Amino acid sequence: MTASLARVVPALPLPAAGFERTTDVVVVGSGAAGLMTALALAGSGRRVVVVTKGALGDGSTRWAQGGLAAVLGNDDDVALHLDDTLVAGAGLCDEDAVRALVTEAPAAIALLRDLGARLDLAPDGRPALTREGGHSRDRIVHAGGDASGAEVTRTLVEALAGAGVEVLERTVALDALRSARGEVVGLRVARVADDGALTDAGDLRAHAVVLATGGYGQAYAAATSPAGATGDGLALALRAGAEIADVEMVQFHPTVLWQGPGATGQQVLISEAVRGEGAVLVDGGGRRIMPGAHPLADLAPRDVVSATIAAHLAATGEDCVHLDATGLGADFLARRFPGILAACRAAGFDPATEPVPVAPGAHYTCGGVLADLDGRTGVAGLYAVGEVACTGVHGANRLASNSITEGLVAARRCAALLDADLPAGAPAAPRPVATATGAIDPAACTAIGTATSRYAGVVRTPGGLAELAGTLAAAPRLTGPLDLAAVEATAVHTVATLLTTAALARRESRGCHRRTDAPATRPEWQVRLAHRIDGTGHLLTRTVPLAAQTTDQDQGVA
Ligand code: SIN
Repeated sequence: MTASLARVVPALPLPAAGFERTTDVVVVGSGAAGLMTALALAGSGRRVVVVTKGALGDGSTRWAQGGLAAVLGNDDDVALHLDDTLVAGAGLCDEDAVRALVTEAPAAIALLRDLGARLDLAPDGRPALTREGGHSRDRIVHAGGDASGAEVTRTLVEALAGAGVEVLERTVALDALRSARGEVVGLRVARVADDGALTDAGDLRAHAVVLATGGYGQAYAAATSPAGATGDGLALALRAGAEIADVEMVQFHPTVLWQGPGATGQQVLISEAVRGEGAVLVDGGGRRIMPGAHPLADLAPRDVVSATIAAHLAATGEDCVHLDATGLGADFLARRFPGILAACRAAGFDPATEPVPVAPGAHYTCGGVLADLDGRTGVAGLYAVGEVACTGVHGANRLASNSITEGLVAARRCAALLDADLPAGAPAAPRPVATATGAIDPAACTAIGTATSRYAGVVRTPGGLAELAGTLAAAPRLTGPLDLAAVEATAVHTVATLLTTAALARRESRGCHRRTDAPATRPEWQVRLAHRIDGTGHLLTRTVPLAAQTTDQDQGVA
């Protein structure tokens, strides 16, 4: 079945370096995790360069609606947050990582407030808390009603402005520089011109590179993530020798505004917090669909709600279900969810007066660079924080609003680790970078996205995954010069290849991964699937016992 999958991961034909500079740490990406890492490192006097392919703050964080999960309520306890996260994660969470997350989350929220974040407050002056799917208590902190990510981003961007961090916008990280001993000692980067051409390539040498590049939602034709979420950091890390895990665990948000078949690009999200405030999912006849499917009904963990909707659509032949928020009232909706109300109305739907059409859509990618919550990967000098990392916090299905919280907690831990560990003196010299061929032509992206959406969605079949594998194997190779679109297409192809490999190998259903031919969750599959490449670029896949994430014993699944 996997025979037609490309076994050699495409590499980039790197432009020659026209400059070389040295710093302490390079941070790639400028969502919450990257911004917080840079801020914390600068606070301890380290020289930091932030590289971002768009503008500062352009990451996925700024689109987040719901908020940040943390134990702040009088009736709450970190043990409950721990339990809820483990239950949602469907057996693939790393319990120690989750415990660290839930324990440190309140301090991360307090730091945000100290930095000036304008959180929505309860009458007693403490952060107002709401609930989302899978949470047993109200513990979602929010801002601007449904503009939580935008406020986090504003806060961190403003804090960074005075912190002495150098920011290279419109600059793409191409590949890691590695020393003779294999450690990462910097990055080959290039400026991105308005037309996407790469100019002014050069080397940033550093003791450490922290990837905070976000996820790979754009491997799908349509997703809630922004256009830049193409998995560049995962592909770069793979080429640098790191392991990538849980790539098959793509979380589908149950309530993405449905705007007809064939929608592409970034979609309109309708926050789970709308259900947290009382909205319900109904079918075309107004009948509720979640009671009976799960004890938490509309607030079941996200994978359960999306799978229930998918089953309903398959059984009825309908294209979408509906979110009925009319019971919340126009005034409440306008106050609590102003952005969602405006986006729905702009698309021709009014949640205040009618149930709006929704369907599951690719939203968050639980897979990433295998790392601990301090950001350590298996490659010395390379760190990963936030959505690009697979720390075991999310397991097979992320608990709602744990992601920005994880980004902030991991960023602070990673910065503390680096501050304590960075060696004195200059970084080791990089060995010459190899020139390569085989990058993917951006023209491949439409076919890859269409096939990924069709065959690696909420429900998967071996036949469909084989079709996806065929699409990937047939992807045209780049013939012209490397540009940003080709860097992104190569990353999309790489992550889609890992996703397909893992989804074919994992013969069970668990969390975000559901196979029609293997509907049960099977104890022998309570393992991660981790991928790396060998010295010739060949893909190797192994199973990783949950307690042994940093070992590298090859068990040869692929
Ligand atoms: C939402 O607001 O429903 C999304 C929150 C999240 O993905 O954690």
